[in-house]
Amino acid sequence: MSKYIVKNNGALHGTVRISGAKNAALPIMAAALLSDGVCVLDDIPDLRDVSNMIDIINHLGGSVKQLHKNSYEFFCGNINDFSAPYETANKLRASFLVMGPLIAKYGYTKIPLPGGCPIGSRPVDLHLKGFAALGADVSLEHGYAEVKAKRLHGANIYLDFPSVGATENIMMAACLADGQTVIANSAVEPEIVDLANFLNLMGAEITGAGTDSIKISGVKSLLGGNYTIIPDRIEAGTFMIAAAITGGKVRLENVVCDHLKPLSAKLREIGIKAEEGGSSVTVSCENPLHSCDIKTLPFPGFPTDMQAQLCALMSTVSGTSIITETVFENRFMHIGELQRMGAKIKLDGRTAVIDGTSLTGAEVRATDLRAGAALCLAGLCADGVTSVSGTEYVERGYEDFAGKLTSLGADIQLT
Ligand code: EPZ
Repeated sequence: MSKYIVKNNGALHGTVRISGAKNAALPIMAAALLSDGVCVLDDIPDLRDVSNMIDIINHLGGSVKQLHKNSYEFFCGNINDFSAPYETANKLRASFLVMGPLIAKYGYTKIPLPGGCPIGSRPVDLHLKGFAALGADVSLEHGYAEVKAKRLHGANIYLDFPSVGATENIMMAACLADGQTVIANSAVEPEIVDLANFLNLMGAEITGAGTDSIKISGVKSLLGGNYTIIPDRIEAGTFMIAAAITGGKVRLENVVCDHLKPLSAKLREIGIKAEEGGSSVTVSCENPLHSCDIKTLPFPGFPTDMQAQLCALMSTVSGTSIITETVFENRFMHIGELQRMGAKIKLDGRTAVIDGTSLTGAEVRATDLRAGAALCLAGLCADGVTSVSGTEYVERGYEDFAGKLTSLGADIQLT
């Protein structure tokens, strides 16, 4: 099993380019299934999740051509299979996002229910309720969701929770439905806006993306289009914390500062400087950092995908910090691993009470991609060597993680 071997090599310095957003690229690649034409997508990050999504699209009959490292051409005019095999779909929860396009365009799909994962049970009831509201017949058996629809019709849908995936799946299904759909209490993450922008480029009629009420007027068909994926705000946040935890100074290029607001505000509260400039942000620490309290929330709240990385940082900052995870029911698997590095953390349900201290290197295990990244960040400032197993998790969501950190002066080897 491969590992990251991380040593404390002092403060990080330099410039790093942020890749395209994994959580925008995956739904947008699924959306290419709706198109009758050719779609060229740029700034697609080079990740395991991306290659798994490409495998699924190829399995369905789509053709995907890599034009450059981060650029792909999709043609999905010859779809001839409407279900994804368990062994492929099971590697990638986002495989569920092909359902909306397949139901809308072909009236049938059968996809394995995504299992749970270390951060929670990950239900899909809101996706399926949305499809049913649009007139589809949904049945669950033998671990699969089978959805049939002669013709989808518009509907008014209220999401019990502003689910990112459910908003995306329903929005894609509604694009080709007869009539108008309104998704109320929809997720407002930047990745939703990116998907809506891509769909509108293809000829969809979507308004309100980025607000909690999205209106979709169904159209007959969608064309192709060329589109560039937004930068990854979570990768950016991870490198901002890498700079902070080592007391360095790092400039991040290819960011959308607005998307980083929830994190930048919190880092400034802790005493970290974040100087924004167009499509870059420079992070530095000139004063001693201090403790903070934070609660993860759907956007524009503090992102759950940054919670593990913040735990790592606050484990090294003197004072008591209280971090509450409200989005996923089991997203503290990294706490036990940080404790093995000497972190003083008490867990009470969805709240972690952290007393900052100095960390020591240890053998630790990644339990999800953000936890894996957080443990590497902790290793950057720990005394001694940290080995992080479960690198396949990190490779799912971070393009060339070790390479980018090394370019900033970190001592991290992928073995
Ligand atoms: C997306 O997952 C992201 N993944 C996650 O990023 C991110 O953590 C999450 O949104 C929240 O921001 C992708 O975009 C590929 P949700 P998703 O549906 O869509 C409950 C990462 O690290 N829920 O917004 O699965 C669910 O249990 C990953 O990059 C239902 O109850 O998230 C959870 O408690 C991890 N029923 C909450 O909503 C449903 O039908 C948030 O889930 C769907 C969700």
